[in-house]
Amino acid sequence: MRFLGMSLATVAMIALAAPAAHAQTVSFSKEIVPIFREHCSQCHNSRQATGGFSVSTFAGIDKGGKGGKVLAPKPEDSRLVKLLEGTAQPKMPPAGPLKKELIAKIRTWITQGGKSDVDANAVVVPESSVPSIKVPVIKVRVPSLPEATALAWSKDNKFLAIGGYKVVTIVDPTSGKVIGELKGHSDKIHDLHFSPDGKWLAAAGGPPAQQGEVKLWDTATWKEGRTLVGHSDYIYSCSFSPDGKQMATASYDKTVKLWDLTTGAESKTLKDHADAVYAVAYSPDGKLLATGSADRSVKVWDVGSGKRIYTLAGHTDMVFDLSWNQKGNQLTSVGADKTVRTYNVNAQAGNQARVSNHDRTVNAVAYSPDGNMMATVSDDKSCKIWNTANGSATQTLKDLGDGLISVEFSPDSKMVAVGGFDGTVRIFNTADGKIVSTVIDLPKAAAPVAAPVAPVKPAPAKPTAAPKK
Ligand code: HEC
Repeated sequence: MRFLGMSLATVAMIALAAPAAHAQTVSFSKEIVPIFREHCSQCHNSRQATGGFSVSTFAGIDKGGKGGKVLAPKPEDSRLVKLLEGTAQPKMPPAGPLKKELIAKIRTWITQGGKSDVDANAVVVPESSVPSIKVPVIKVRVPSLPEATALAWSKDNKFLAIGGYKVVTIVDPTSGKVIGELKGHSDKIHDLHFSPDGKWLAAAGGPPAQQGEVKLWDTATWKEGRTLVGHSDYIYSCSFSPDGKQMATASYDKTVKLWDLTTGAESKTLKDHADAVYAVAYSPDGKLLATGSADRSVKVWDVGSGKRIYTLAGHTDMVFDLSWNQKGNQLTSVGADKTVRTYNVNAQAGNQARVSNHDRTVNAVAYSPDGNMMATVSDDKSCKIWNTANGSATQTLKDLGDGLISVEFSPDSKMVAVGGFDGTVRIFNTADGKIVSTVIDLPKAAAPVAAPVAPVKPAPAKPTAAPKK
């Protein structure tokens, strides 16, 4: 309608002239590297240069692979472009072509000379930022639709904390009302826990490939307290020691760290995992620490000495989460091999007691506070509730959105909250599997046009009615 007064020819001329007039220099470091980092680096990095090709430096890209150079003065002569467009073999990436805009960007960069705007030998994709192929948080990367990545339910039943992208939403689990939003997180929240005394909420995450962060929020005022900063990549999981004096963190950087919460200082680094560590949990007596990793193992450590005591094998793919039972004599881990594995454990050794399944990757596991149940959630869109006495599934809650990533029992064990990739958190009765409520829908809560369950308070994260302790 706006062009009504112009001739069609004028419109066409503007349209044709526009791209040329606005052709801007494509920055290698800012625009090209992110494409390689996200879509190529897991197979073409400094550690594993498949086909002799590595994208970790410009020099590596310029050198090409075992078949020779991949860049050329003209895009149509470039083997890189041919592999991306599928006009030469092997088509890259193997899982399917890149979006047209990304290929167009690479073409433009090559037309403009295919040069680097940083030192040719500067490491542009460090090993620590190489994405793992099956990381659930990367494969469903839709920034406009926040995922309910983590859940924590306070022992006094006042708060349900929901982790999303850069923000933690605090909800009243009974009414579903949003109490506040905790902002200032640098990226996705990967884990949430209330301290044993309920005074703090820990939110773990950090900017990927840079550092790990755990922010501690005062639950009386919802003011930000201390931030623990360390690790060379984001923190996937954190755990308060039962006495509340220590915290353990597990990171994508393959290490586990112990922190002194009275000073905020790092006290130990545990280094035995060969790949990203996705889960960490103190045993109920605080003497042991269990960790689960992409290296397919679960390890049990002595907290006092920081030494690994034993490794629980069995998983045939990455381990994404684990949980101790209340007595501390059983440990259950879940992961990409679709299994739920329960081990009998003590301070000397452990052995597998039971294996159950989901149809797809199992992302999270939690024991109920009363110790009678266990809940697991999966990419197969279901949440299963298990009887811990005999290992049978007592409830299977099916078809819950796009798949589930977080699960948490209510303090009285009567309800279970499950969070999904679609940003929805639902609460179910554990006895009959009936839905109690949908407490929040993060995508809708984030979009002002769609009416959220309850009005979301703007930042700063300060509830108007400060919760009384
Ligand atoms: C899932 C793993 C994987 C991903 C992701 C991947 N590649 Fe490859 N790439 C391979 C394999 C396998 C080969 C073949 C190696 C061989 O021939 O031995 C290959 C070969 C290549 C080669 C040819 C090397 C040579 O000289 O023969 C280039 C260039 C290449 N890939 C570029 C890319 C680019 C660019 C991306 C991202 C857009 C990408 N690849 C993503 C696995 C991958």
